[in-house]
Parts: sequence; C-alpha cells; structure tokens
Amino acid sequence: MSAIVIHGIGALCTCDPLVGDAPGVVRDAALVARDGRIVYAGPESGLDRADVPRGALEVHARGAAVLPGFVDAHTHIVWLGDRGDEYARRAAGATYEEIAASGGGIRATVRATAAGSVEELASAGRERARRMLAGGTTTVEVKSGYGLEHEAEMRQLDAADRIGRWVDLPDVVATYLPLHAVPDGSRDEYIDDVCTRGVAAAAKRATFVDAFCDTGAYTVAECERLFTAARAHGLRPKIHAEQRSRSGGALLAARAGAVSADHLEHASNTDLEALNAAGVVGVILPGASVVLGGPPPPGRRLLDAGCTVAVATDCNPGTCYSESMPLMISLAVALGGLTPAQALVAATTGGAAALGLADRGMLRPGLRCDAVILNTPSWVDVAYHLGGDVVASVVLEGRVAVPSKA
Ligand code: NIG
Ligand code: FE
Repeated sequence: MSAIVIHGIGALCTCDPLVGDAPGVVRDAALVARDGRIVYAGPESGLDRADVPRGALEVHARGAAVLPGFVDAHTHIVWLGDRGDEYARRAAGATYEEIAASGGGIRATVRATAAGSVEELASAGRERARRMLAGGTTTVEVKSGYGLEHEAEMRQLDAADRIGRWVDLPDVVATYLPLHAVPDGSRDEYIDDVCTRGVAAAAKRATFVDAFCDTGAYTVAECERLFTAARAHGLRPKIHAEQRSRSGGALLAARAGAVSADHLEHASNTDLEALNAAGVVGVILPGASVVLGGPPPPGRRLLDAGCTVAVATDCNPGTCYSESMPLMISLAVALGGLTPAQALVAATTGGAAALGLADRGMLRPGLRCDAVILNTPSWVDVAYHLGGDVVASVVLEGRVAVPSKA
C-alpha cells in the first residue's frame, strides 16, 4: 500500500467540469491518493484525518497551484539522427516540402532510425520522455513512423513499450504510424504489406493507428484502406489531417470514427463541424504550426464548432523539437485563441479524450493520481510565463516522480 497527501494547495485545478467553470478550481485544498488512485480532491477544511491513510507521504504545496498531469496525445519521440541542418535551411527560405522532395524530411530520419536496435531507440526516446516528465507530462502518446519497413516499425513500437515500463517516466500509449513518408520502392506493395502483416503485428503492440494524409504523403483512399484493415485488428484510427493543405483527412476521420484528427490548420469550418458531429477530438499542435508557418492552430475554431480540443507537443525532429507542454499551452493561447483555462483543460482532459482514456486528465476521486505541483500560486502562469520553469514537482500514479528542487 502506498499513499500520499498533498496539503496546502493554494489552487487545486481539478479540470473537472463537475467542480465548476474551467479549470474547476478549489481554493485551499488537499489531494489524497492511495495505491495510485485519488481518494480525496477538495477543500483542506473538508478533509477528515481519518481519510488520510496511515503512513501516507505528506507533501506540502506551500500555497502553490496543483494541476492534473499533462497528457501529451501526439508525439514522435522515438527517433535517431539530427535535422538541425534542415531547420537552418528552412529559416533561410527552403520549404518543408522542398526539403522532403530532395530526400530530406521524414525520410532523413528514417535513414537514421530504421537500423536502430530497440535498445538504441528506447534510450533516445527515454531522454525525451524524461524531459517531458520534468515539464509535467505524466502520459505520452508515442508513434512509430520512422521505420518505413515492417521490422523497423515494430522495433519503434517495442521501444515505445520499453519507455513506458521504465519507472518514473510517463505512462506510454503507442500508435502505429506506417503511412508517414512514402517509400522509394513500390508504394502499393508497401501499403499491401502494412494492411496485412503490419496491422496484425502492430495490434499486439499499439492502441491506435495513424496516417499522414496530405500532399506529398498519403491520399484519403490510402489512409481509408489502412483504417479499415487496422480496425479489423482492433486498432482505432487517428490522423494527421489538413496540416499542409486541405486534403480531406478531417472528413475521413469523421467517416472512419477516428478518436482524433490532428493538426487541422487548413481545415474548413465544415470539416470541424463534421468532426464535432462524429465525436472526433481535434488535436492542435501549435509548436509545429509556429515552426512551419502558415495558418494558426485552430483552437478557437474547434471550440466554436463544439469539438473537444486537445493540445500536444508533436515532439519530432522535423516540425517541432519540443518536449514542453507548458510551452504548448502558452502557444495555444497566443496563437490558437484559447483562454488559459481552456488551454489547461486541452492539455489534460482534452489529451485524455484524444487517447480514449477515462481514468485520467482531471483530479477527481477514483482517477489516477497524476499531478503537477507548480512553483507559483497562479495556475495562469503556465500559459502566461512563456518558456517559464513553472513546474516544482510531479506526482505519477501517486508517487513523487520529480522531487521539488526547492
Ligand atoms: O506531425 N506531419 C507529419 N509528421 C510530423 C513531422 C515529422 C517529421 O518531420 O519528422 C508532424 O508534423
Ligand atoms: Fe505528428
């Protein structure tokens, strides 16, 4: 039996809609967990000492704000190699598409990653996951997509699994992303392979399937074929949609019952309404939007359409090398039109919805005790303090995984 009690919380942001307006703040609060699950989240004055398990670790927040752990619902952290040169070329005027067409881009990372062993891949991803946890991320989705060949894709998924098993690293949800870059050889043979042996093997390793539906990547018909094959093995779709152009991925997501449609910068309002009607979560990736330029992340437009919104890092070597959810929250406000409260909910409850996880994303009795203790009494600082070091410590499934530096 393990237990923890966090006293002296100035503002407990439950992100629980039952508590009140976002982010569901309880003042002068306490949070109690037993065996990784929350047993109390409410005013300190309402906490009965008898409800605190004997031997519980006592932590004092000293008036700081406490939030649910961030759920980063879209990342590509299992990669080898480096594309800093491309970042510099783009800054000098080359486009993402021009670099990809000349053999760079995703395929440059495939060349560096595909031959990597599970150990090499896991240790590269582990460092990124460690930085994510330090920034308050307690659950991370990890995609394959840099294998472009069956065995290499499976090694990426096995590396994702290994990262999730390390103690004191975020919980991992794996996604099979076989349709990412286009191979040099026969495109049809590759898709045939993915839709037969790929989805069968991935179903043992991943929860979701994903595809990059765009100009220069895969067509709606190809992505739809993958989703149909994957669904037969129990893999639910996610999609990179309308990132670089309006190519029909959002409507496919609605049609295919995808759990989320991600990016969406070029989506029309009709697309977003279709997502809402189908209950598809819209995931904005404001780091990639800002690095690539183009239309802003459609946070406000998604909310106006009625959608549940998640914000995620997209951490990857090409379009957004950042592990920081606090930075994404800032950008979701500054560029995506969300309020700080909406951005906080998008980074927690929204992320959980984008991963189909009902056991986290808010601080409510019965749910996993994943929590971030800030070093400030003001939860708005997560958005307001750009690039600020706002996280004091992190509780992962009821254990202190990042101790306070103070
Ligand atoms: O989400 N759009 C496709 N995939 C990634 C980029 C991957 C890369 O450039 O390596 C994204 O932006
Ligand atoms: Fe991505």
